[in-house]
Parts: sequence; C-alpha cells; structure tokens
Amino acid sequence: MVNAPAMPPIAPARSLEARYYIDPEIFGQEQAGLLTRTWQFAGHISQLEKPGDYFTFEIAGRNLFCIHDREGELRTFYNVCQHRAHELVRGTGNSNLIVCPYHAWTYKLTGPLHGGPNIKAVPDSERNRICLAPVRTEIFLGFVFVNLDPDAKPMDEWFSRVRVELSEYVPHIERLKPLEWVEIPEHCNWKVSVENYSECYHCQCNHKTFSTRVIKPDTYDIQPQGYCLRHTTECQNLDRMSYPIDLTGNPCAGKYSSWFLWPTFSFQVYPGNILNTYHWRPEDVDEVVVWRGWYTIDGADSEVIRKLAIQDRATTVEEDIHIVESVQRGLKGRGYRPGPLVIDPGCGVNSEHSIRVLQQWMREAVDA
Ligand code: FES
Ligand SMILES: [Fe+2]
Repeated sequence: MVNAPAMPPIAPARSLEARYYIDPEIFGQEQAGLLTRTWQFAGHISQLEKPGDYFTFEIAGRNLFCIHDREGELRTFYNVCQHRAHELVRGTGNSNLIVCPYHAWTYKLTGPLHGGPNIKAVPDSERNRICLAPVRTEIFLGFVFVNLDPDAKPMDEWFSRVRVELSEYVPHIERLKPLEWVEIPEHCNWKVSVENYSECYHCQCNHKTFSTRVIKPDTYDIQPQGYCLRHTTECQNLDRMSYPIDLTGNPCAGKYSSWFLWPTFSFQVYPGNILNTYHWRPEDVDEVVVWRGWYTIDGADSEVIRKLAIQDRATTVEEDIHIVESVQRGLKGRGYRPGPLVIDPGCGVNSEHSIRVLQQWMREAVDA
C-alpha cells in the first residue's frame, strides 16, 4: 500500500506562545536567520542621486553601505575593509573611491581593490582577488532593498503582484521622494508591533479617527499573496474625511490599501493616492523602532500631507504604541496562556485570519 503524501501542517488557530516575544535566544535566532535571508529595506534612491553618493545602514547588527557607482548602478557592500577589518565609511557622503581610514587602502565603487600604500608588496595574485563583499540589492519602485542571502529569490517572486498593484494605486510612485521620516520607538518585540499592524479587529475600539474619518471599517480585509499581506478598504464618505481628496484624479483615488512585505516593511496608500511607509527595525528582544516615511512628488512640500502625517502620528500611531507596549507587559507576566484567534470564514474586519498566516511565518522562522 502506498502511503498518502503527508499533509502540510495546518497552523493551530491559537496565538503564539509568549516565549516568541520575550526570549532573547529566539530574538538571536531571528537576527541570525530570518533577517539575513529576507528582503530588508535599506533606503530610497533619492539618497543616492550622484555617482559616489553613499549611505550606511544596519541589518540585524551587520554594518552595510549602499553606493551609487559610476555606471549608474546602486551597489551594497558589507562596511568592512578586506585588509584588517576596519569600517570603511560612516553616515552619508560622496566619494570618488572608497578609502579605508586605517591604512588608506582604496576600493573602486564597484568593489575591487584599487590601491594602497606599498600595496605592491602584496603578490599580484593575492592583490587582484581582493574585493569588497557584495550584498544582493534590488530597487523596488524607487525603494532600495537588500538581502544578505546571495541565493534569495527576487522580490517579485516573494511579493507577487505588489509592483503592479502599487503602481496602480500610486501612478507617480517613481517620482516620489521622502518629505519626512518619523522615528517611533516602541517598547515591545517587533512581532507584537507587526501583528498589531496586520489586523483591524482592534480598529473600531481603538482608532476612532482612522475608523470614522479615513476608512470604512466594514469594507476592511487583509489577504495573503505570497509573503505579502494585502490590506484593502474603501475611504470614508467624502463629507467625513479628515482631509480633502480628489476622487476624479485617479481610479484608485478613493481606496486605501497596504502591502505588508514580510517581515519588516509596509507600503501603505491612504485615500488620495498618498504613499507612506512603515519599517520596523528590531533593536532588541523588547525594543523596536518604527520608521514612518511620507512622500511627495520630488519631495515638494505639501501642507495636506504634513497635516495628515501629524494626524496619523497623534491618533493611530499613538493609540497603537499604548496597545503594543501593554501587550509586551502582558507577555512578560506569568498569567498569559495563548488565546484562540478569531477566524471568521468570511474574513473581513472582525477576523484574525491574517494573524494566523503571520504567526505561521513567525513560527517557521524560528522552528524550521
Ligand atoms: S584595515 Fe583597511 S586599510 Fe588596513
Ligand atoms: Fe492599530
């Protein structure tokens, strides 16, 4: 008799155990594993307009920098000299060559060693092999993402349809530049914050402005597509909207949508085709910094968008900080037994089906 193939495991409809959010060892596993083999946000191409422009950043405690080479390509390297490991660059800047501050070895913007004091003393065969360690880099509609896994599948395979859908919602996306960034520290595990973002079951009792003056909660839904969680909803009636929008401007002008890209980034479009982004930077097992970005065409000032960013910060974001920090305190206490998720077969706003998917990815990241 031939055995039936094993069924794929079905995630229990029960929330994750507290240890996933409070155990420093699990955080260490995520830093060494998940964050090194998924696509991570690095910055925006407008930070690297000219050849030689660079900026430094960190992924899971690794120092990296992204640089615009002379042929127009954006490249990312580990920020470490291949001589005796000094860091190469700091902050942001522009340089014709990458010069190590320790013994002044220089590298071309494409990575190979260019020269150094008395470098001829190193045999040619050795010297010609020296090159900065590259990191996979993709430009996704003007946003720079990197993946420390050289064999990672391209972003379009991880996040199918997102590029096309987002371009429909924000037709001018490739002309956008950041208008402002807001950095929001939250005293909680990054997964608590990401989960809170990934359901709207809590919206009506916590986000009055968002639920009554931006979107219509009864039209809200979240569905997975690849490793993306796609949120969709309609905007509030125009007379109740907290800011003006022109519905005739574009077929998607009256809609809200967001595309959460597992594990730490989200593109969010407010009614009026207004792009804003979330980036969760896990800092420690119980610390995350959420970077909120707001964009306009060419980075031009916009009173509407500045006011909307302030409203968002003062309402939804502030309301969520209290929630996620309370959850973290609850997880650290001893009285928590993981509760059942509310899974409505019809999905919709009062269902946590998206959390089931997300927590399955979280389990796999640690247990697989
Ligand atoms: S460590 Fe960079 S030149 Fe020596
Ligand atoms: Fe929320």
